Amino acid sequence: MIEPTPARMAAVSAPSGASELLPELVRAWQQRFGRRDAPRVFFAPGRVNLMGAHLDYNGGPVMPVAVDRGTFVALGPRGDGRLRLASRIEPGECEIDLALAAHSARSGAWFDYPLGVALALCARRPRAVGLDVLFGGNLPIGGGLSSSASICVGTSLAFERAWGIELSSLERIEVALWAEREFVGVKCGIMDPTSIALARRGRLLWLDCRDRSFEHVALDDARIAIGVADSGVRRELARGDFNLRVEQCRAAFEQLRRYVPGATCLRDVPAGVLASHAAELEPVVARRALHVVSEVERTFAARDALARGELAAFGELMVRTHASLRDAYEVSLPELDCLSETACALDGVYGARLTGAGFGGCVVVLLHPRASAALAPALEAEFARRFGRVPRVTIYASSDGPRELEL
Ligand code: GLA
Repeated sequence: MIEPTPARMAAVSAPSGASELLPELVRAWQQRFGRRDAPRVFFAPGRVNLMGAHLDYNGGPVMPVAVDRGTFVALGPRGDGRLRLASRIEPGECEIDLALAAHSARSGAWFDYPLGVALALCARRPRAVGLDVLFGGNLPIGGGLSSSASICVGTSLAFERAWGIELSSLERIEVALWAEREFVGVKCGIMDPTSIALARRGRLLWLDCRDRSFEHVALDDARIAIGVADSGVRRELARGDFNLRVEQCRAAFEQLRRYVPGATCLRDVPAGVLASHAAELEPVVARRALHVVSEVERTFAARDALARGELAAFGELMVRTHASLRDAYEVSLPELDCLSETACALDGVYGARLTGAGFGGCVVVLLHPRASAALAPALEAEFARRFGRVPRVTIYASSDGPRELEL
């Protein structure tokens, strides 16, 4: 049997909230750009990562799932070769002459992401037509659900279609990575754009970031629901903290590689080697390496637990990951610890951990669907008691990858 591809399934898998969001976005696009025609609209999901925290840039395995919320991109062509970028979510707009696109510099605003994608694509299609583009969406921004890769992958698909460029999913991932790493300047790994570009509903992506091999693994809907609790905390300096972790891991690998012939990344360093040589590393670098090396073991164990249908064991590994992110990688916060611990105390919750880079953002909760209704009230009550405000708690479905939506 031929597996249904995301494109063929487009009609049956509308993203959550699309029925309200889509007409609003179309109206806003017409108003913003003073147009009467209808735009084309594209969607790219966000993602949660169940296991493999901070492993992608260390060559390790990761287990992300795309979710049914994300970025919506509405666009229509213009005759004057100008690219106009506006958002319903974030302030600030950008307008450039595409013929001079190569001279654009990053500004620190949200539109650096789509601008970076436009630059990467213009290198392939130097005489691209102008576009009026309005972004919308229903993913927490900067909350660890990969809103930045979602906007990059969604923009790439939308601009490819508008400019008549044919890219494979793997090439689209490269465009998104270029935008984020080279233009925006975040030294991120391959997990986020890959999990979004290759997403399939009902599956998680097992991705080995050392050789980029991947496999779609079925998730049992009858036994698994995915909850997300947004702490509401956003740290301005998170980008610098993230790049610092990347540097510390690189430093650990440079020191340890001499003891592991043939090693190409920190993932290749066995726990025993780290244990024998940890004292040679700066203490903070040794702690970062400890997280990575132990997370590699936990992630393989999680894959085995999932294959055996042992969700309690899988959840227990998520809990250990959270502890390692808190104590060894030092990217958690009391708000995230509170959400994760409170969720794990509930009946029917297998496990919970912070998702994404950390320093704020969201906790992902793996739970039995029958426990879904109790999750939000429990987290809201405990979080409000400790921090005086209410977190946003949502149950997500898994999602297909980026696609054009029917209006
Ligand atoms: C961010 C990065 C990813 C990954 C995660 C941590 O989301 O963009 O590449 O490193 O953090 O797992």
